[in-house]
Amino acid sequence: MTDSNFYIETPRLYISHYQPSNDAHCDFKVVLYNQPELIKGQHRNASAFPDRTSARAFILETQDEQARSGYGRFLVSLKPSSVNPNKLFSEIQSECEMVGQVSLKFAQGPYAYTAPDVGYGFLSKYWGNGYATEASAALLKYFEEEKGVKEVFGFCNANNEGSMGVLRRLGFQQRGVMDLKPYGVHGMVWVKPGMSEDLSVYGLTG
Ligand SMILES: CC(C)(COP(=O)(O)OP(=O)(O)OC[C@H]1O[C@@H](n2cnc3c(N)ncnc32)[C@H](O)[C@@H]1OP(=O)(O)O)[C@@H](O)C(=O)NCCC(=O)NCCS
Repeated sequence: MTDSNFYIETPRLYISHYQPSNDAHCDFKVVLYNQPELIKGQHRNASAFPDRTSARAFILETQDEQARSGYGRFLVSLKPSSVNPNKLFSEIQSECEMVGQVSLKFAQGPYAYTAPDVGYGFLSKYWGNGYATEASAALLKYFEEEKGVKEVFGFCNANNEGSMGVLRRLGFQQRGVMDLKPYGVHGMVWVKPGMSEDLSVYGLTG
C-alpha cells in the first residue's frame, strides 16, 4: 500500500500517490486518459481506463509494487493558496486541484532496459503553464537525491512537440529515433545528461 501522506513539493505543485480508495483519484485518471487530445496524440482508439472501476483496479494492482520500489505513476495537483501546516497531506489533498500525472518506471518484459523512463500527461486546459516540466524535474531530483537514480530515458513520438519541449526544458539530450522493443514502437530517444554514448549498456539496441 502506498503512503497517502507522501508528497513531493514544488513551487506550484504537489506530487503524490494515487489512492485506490479515493473515488476522485480514480475519476481523475479516467478523465486524464480519455482526453481527445491524448488519444489522438498517441494514436489510440480506446482509453485504457473507460471507467472508475478499471482505474481503481489498476491503481490497486500497481500500488504494492510502487510502495516497494518507489517507481510508478504519481498524481500532480496544484498547491492551494494557503495550507494549514498542522494538517497531514492526506487531510489537505481534497482541497488541491488535480492537473496531471508524472511517472518514472521501467519498461517491462524480456527487452526491458536497465534505466527507467520519465513520463507525463496533463489535462489539456493546464498545458502551457510549465507544470509538466516543473513536476518532472522535481520527480527526477527526488529519485536522484533519495535513490541515487542518475540515468533516465525519455521516449516520445517524433511528432509530439509538447513532449519534446518538456524533455528539452529538462535538459535531456536527443539520441535519435530507435526501435523501442519493450514498447513495440519506434520512438525518439532522449537521455539525461551524463549517460553513456553507447545506449546498449542500458539494453537499448535499435
Ligand atoms: C506533454 C505535455 C505534458 C506537455 O505539456 P506542456 O504544458 O506543453 O509542458 P510544460 O509543462 O513544460 O509547459 C511548457 C509550456 O508552458 C509555457 N510556460 C508558461 N509558464 C511557464 C513556466 N513557469 N515554466 C516553464 N514553462 C512555462 C512554456 O512557454 C511552454 O509553452 P510553449 O510550448 O507554448 O512554448 C502535454 O502536451 C500532454 O499532456 N500531452 C498528452 C500526453 C503526452 O503526450 N505525454 C507524453 C507522452 S511521451
